[in-house]
This record gives sequence, C-alpha cells and structure tokens, in this order.
Amino acid sequence: MTTETGKTATLAVEGQSFELPIYDGAVGPSVIDVRPLYKHTGHFTYDPGFTSTAACDSSITYIDGDKGELLYRGYPIDQLAEDSHFLEVCYLLLYGDLPNKELLEDFKSRVTNHTMLHEQMTNFYRGFRRDAHPMAIVTGVVGALSAFYHDSTDIRDPMQRQVASIRMIAKMPTIAAWAYKYSIGQPFVYPRNDLSYAANFMHMCFSVPTEDYKVDPIMAEAMDRIFTLHADHEQNASTSTVRLAGSSNANPFACIAAGVACLWGPAHGGANEAALNMLKEIGDVSRIPEYIARAKDKDDPFRLMGFGHRVYKSYDPRAKVMQQSAKEVLELVGVENDPILKVAQELEKIALEDEYFVKRNLYPNVDFYSGIVLSAMGFPTSMFTAIFALARTVGWIAQWKEMIEDPDQRIGRPRQLYTGEPMRDYVPVEKR
Ligand code: CMC
Repeated sequence: MTTETGKTATLAVEGQSFELPIYDGAVGPSVIDVRPLYKHTGHFTYDPGFTSTAACDSSITYIDGDKGELLYRGYPIDQLAEDSHFLEVCYLLLYGDLPNKELLEDFKSRVTNHTMLHEQMTNFYRGFRRDAHPMAIVTGVVGALSAFYHDSTDIRDPMQRQVASIRMIAKMPTIAAWAYKYSIGQPFVYPRNDLSYAANFMHMCFSVPTEDYKVDPIMAEAMDRIFTLHADHEQNASTSTVRLAGSSNANPFACIAAGVACLWGPAHGGANEAALNMLKEIGDVSRIPEYIARAKDKDDPFRLMGFGHRVYKSYDPRAKVMQQSAKEVLELVGVENDPILKVAQELEKIALEDEYFVKRNLYPNVDFYSGIVLSAMGFPTSMFTAIFALARTVGWIAQWKEMIEDPDQRIGRPRQLYTGEPMRDYVPVEKR
C-alpha cells in the first residue's frame, strides 16, 4: 500500500518548475510519482535498465539490497527456508498470510490433484528434437497449456484465475521432469500424490520402471529448500516480463511461458548453469587467477558467473542458506573433496578479498551454490534453469494475480528516446 506523504519533489524543466508527489511504501525507498510529467512538460523520464524506476506497487516480496535482506510477505527468507516448506510458502505468496492447518491441507490437496498432464501432451513432447534443451521444451509446453486447459484462460473470472494458478504450480514439476526424461530417452514417469512436492519431482526425474527408487529425505529437503529460495524475488527481469505480458490481458499460461523464456538468459536464471560450466572450465585452483584477470578485463566479455546482483550490494541472503545446503548434500553424497567444489570455495575466497570485486560489491549470488547442490543431486547442468523456473512459477503467478486484481491496472507501455532518422521521403529502388 502506498501512502500519500504530502511531500513533493520539485523538478525544474526549461525555466519552469513542477511539483511531483512523493509516496512512501511500508519500508524501503519512497517513490516520486512522475506520471503527470509528460502531460505537463512534454518530457519522458529515461531509465533503460530500470535502475531507479518502480514499475508497480506490490505487497509480495521485499528486498533490502544493502542489508542483504529478503522477505516474503514480511517473513525473512532464512526463517522460511529453515522452518517452513515450499507448499506453505506458495500459499503465503499467493494469499498473503501463512495458512492454518486446515487451509494448508486444503491447499496441498488442491495442488496434488492437478499434478498430471493431459495425456495428449506426451505427443507434444515427442515433437521436440531429442537433444532439445529442457528450457526450450519447458517454454513450449507451458505456453501450450493454454491449448489444453481452455476452462482456465478467462482472466476476468476469479475462479478461472484460481484454477490456472493451482494448475501451473502443480504441473510445473511434471513438465520439467518430463523435459529431462525426454532429453535422456527414458519413459515419462507419472506423478505420485503420496509424495511431498519436492520428493515427487525427484521421483519423476530419477525413477525408472525397472527398479524401485526411494527419494532420500535429506535430498528431498534440500530440493524443497531450493524451491523456497527461488520462489519469488520481486520485480526481476522474468517477473517484469510476466507482468508486462499480463498487462495486455494475455492468458496466464502465455504470461508464465514469457517468464520462463526470459529466465533462460545467463544474466538471470541461466546463471546457475553458466556458473557450474565456468567452474568445470576452470577445473583447477591453479587456473583461478587467470579467470579473475579475465573478469576484470574490460576488453573481455567474460564475467564471473554467480557473482554480482543488481539489487544485492552485500551477501545474497539466499546464497548463505544455499551454502549450508551445499555442505549437507555434498557430505551425504560423499563429494566434499570434489575438485569443482574446491575451485568454487577458492574462487569465492579470492573474489571476496580482491579489490575489484570488493569495490563493486560483487558477492556470490544464489546461483553460485545452487548449481553445486543440483549437480551433487544428480541433475545435469541443462536442468538447472528448468528447476529455477519450476520454483519461480509461484512468484510469477502471485505477481500476475496481484496485477490483474488491481483496479488501476493498465497495459504496460514504456516510451523511448528516439535516435533514428527523422521523417524522410521514400526513394524507389531504381533511384537508390
Ligand atoms: N564479474 C565481473 N565483473 C562484474 C560482474 C561479474 N559477475 N558483475 C558485475 N561486474 C562489474 C561490471 O563490469 C561493472 O563494472 P564497471 O563499473 O567497472 O563497469 C560493475 O560490476 C557493475 O556491473 P553492472 O553490469 O552495471 O551491474 P548490473 O546490476 O547491471 O548486473 C548482473 C547485474 C547480475 C547481471 C551482473 O552482476 C552479472 O552479469 N553477473 C553474472 C551473472 C549472474 O550471476 N547472474 C545471476 C543473478 S542472481 C539470480 C537471478 O536473480 O536471476
């Protein structure tokens, strides 16, 4: 909720001055309302990377990048990762408060009753090339949900919005697991509703019809924690993509597919895959200085993947939790002495002491560790971003729902600073 403060900012434009209202949020920076600016001055504001622009108001997630604080509906991420579980966090993000026992049971049963995919979707999977990247498949299949579930695409109907939301949270593990199974040539494994959300996902990824597969409870807990840590992150690139797509009143499946596509990029969700590939490429502690030098070289596009964040200018609070998870999982699978882990630990140590990284507040982010954990669990790097997408789906949906339910919502339509040719007359081809 925004509060009118009575305060204003004065802007002087070409000799005239204008008063712009200032609003306070619950916590965090206040905003200057620039909406009347164009009407009164004929000028746009210019902020291409959205570094100083609040594109909406939201009551879902709060980040204090300087303190390294992340809150879902006011609850600190480390408490949720430690004491809650993913489905409870989904409820919290979607509905604003922690559920009581009955509400939680009801929510769990609604989710578990929607885990299956329409059987015809198996044919859809088979249309992909065998070696397709799982994110290519997930993007396509999530978009295709709108072709299979027509009864939940009317965004003006609250019940249909509800059903679409539950369907996506419930089906994402099946969609992602089947993308994996398809890419390795194994049969699809159907969901099991007697397992927890995380254990069911691991079951669909790792079990085969020929033998029994038991999900290790420590692994399932680590998986659940990864989901919780990635569930939402306020107005990041993929969430803003979902909001922008949704602002045109596109159906929810199409909007989430847009979010998945955006997440794929290595500067965003693709960083976990890129970080592990980088650690493998470095291969040995002795080669770290060479890579640190490359990261600092302005003529080299190389960046230390898994380092830096637009908002966090201190340690990413998710990375702290993930670091602990990495320890537990690696101990369990007995790879504490893994050379990749050694490279990761040493790289982190060197980067945290190096002036270049210190000066720019470049700390390890969640993706630096999540790749190590997922790899120890047995996932190939190509699945890392698909798992991120699975977890972030609830955040995208909560943000989309918040936007659709806002009576003041309008289509998102950024403006631009035009730098092309002014108007000129068309010249026929024979005269050019
Ligand atoms: N390695 C080396 N230098 C870096 C890095 C890095 N990973 N990240 C930023 N810098 C430098 C950058 O060159 C610039 O230096 P200078 O001021 O001398 O020009 C300065 O730090 C500021 O960087 P920026 O590009 O202006 O920062 P940004 O806020 O636009 O970018 C970022 C944020 C996450 C895209 C960037 O830090 C990055 O590319 N990191 C690697 C990719 C990564 O790990 N992404 C995952 C983000 S967390 C998960 C998620 O939310 O998706």
